[in-house]
Amino acid sequence: MRITLAYNLKRKDEAKPMDYFSEFDSPQTINAIASAIKSRGHRVDLVDADRPDLFSYFSQNRADLVFNIAEGTCGKFREAELPAILDCLDIPYTGSNTFCLALALNKGLTKKILKAEGIPTPNFQIFFRGNETLDPQLKFPLIVKPNREGSAKGIDISCVVNNEGLLYKKIREIKETYKQEVLVEEFIEGRELTVGILENGKVMILPILEIDFAGCGKSGEYFYSWRMKEYQGNKELGLLPSFHCPARLDKDIEDKVKDAALKTHRAIACLDISRTDIRLSKDNIPYVLEINPLPGLSPDESNFSLMAYAAGMKYDDLIEAILLSAAERKRSQN
Ligand SMILES: Nc1ncnc2c1ncn2[C@@H]1O[C@H](COP(=O)(O)OP(=O)(O)O)[C@@H](O)[C@H]1O
Ligand SMILES: [Mg+2]
Repeated sequence: MRITLAYNLKRKDEAKPMDYFSEFDSPQTINAIASAIKSRGHRVDLVDADRPDLFSYFSQNRADLVFNIAEGTCGKFREAELPAILDCLDIPYTGSNTFCLALALNKGLTKKILKAEGIPTPNFQIFFRGNETLDPQLKFPLIVKPNREGSAKGIDISCVVNNEGLLYKKIREIKETYKQEVLVEEFIEGRELTVGILENGKVMILPILEIDFAGCGKSGEYFYSWRMKEYQGNKELGLLPSFHCPARLDKDIEDKVKDAALKTHRAIACLDISRTDIRLSKDNIPYVLEINPLPGLSPDESNFSLMAYAAGMKYDDLIEAILLSAAERKRSQN
């Protein structure tokens, strides 16, 4: 097959905010995916989804299938930008469709669906103007987050607030910086888990990954903040989370966590791949924070790759599974 790998490239640009490129991919990841695809006998073209003539590029360079890792750059639906273009041109692509990507980027809307489906998610309120009255049912501590970002952009320890003064201050700050509505939800004390799902003929729930922040005391951080994700492993900063895969969970709790992730994957109709972030409360309720239909695929650093390795897969097998799942969908729709 002729495959086009579409990505947004991580690069240095002093004119952009510090976290602007956090979700984008490094040349190493792009090369690793490209060589995995080539190793299975396909031709690979690379395209940076940042190019302004994306529509005409794809209409003139038609691929059999696009391997999509592009996070997008503009607007409320940025992760859906490229899939929308490919839909218009009737070019198939890996992973979730335009609608699912736009939905999952919107954490608040996704949580409304989770609530309707009976999937546990922290109680929440969305602040559009910023000065709405706080829902009296919400219990402090609360966490304040941009509603439509990933890679923990805008999330640090000052986002966890214990009173209304700090809450409204943080809401204003996030609204101003990220120019979007703000999600406020109950902060769940407990364990940090993430669950990968891979569909290739059958649905495969990968071994659960636990990220343990007990060794991060020196950093002053105790959850998966932007700094933690960006600089994890940095000894000087004390950002030394440990990873356990499979997570150390009793079987009945493991099943409950996997069930919440699978229901979430299905509730928003993800395709081929997803990663669901969960906080397991002290009373063992798996609260779904969000689902990522475009999880990071760095061979060395990404949570999803760690989970695939724990399932006995090699990196090339992971990429091939995504490819085959999408190719099969294309065949069955023809
Ligand atoms: N309600 C919450 N309770 C506890 N921790 C949270 C909560 N919301 C976010 N966090 C922490 O912040 C991290 C990033 O939040 P998340 O909603 O997954 O955003 P992102 O899309 O940026 O990954 C989580 O992995 C978790 O460590
Ligand atoms: Mg997350």
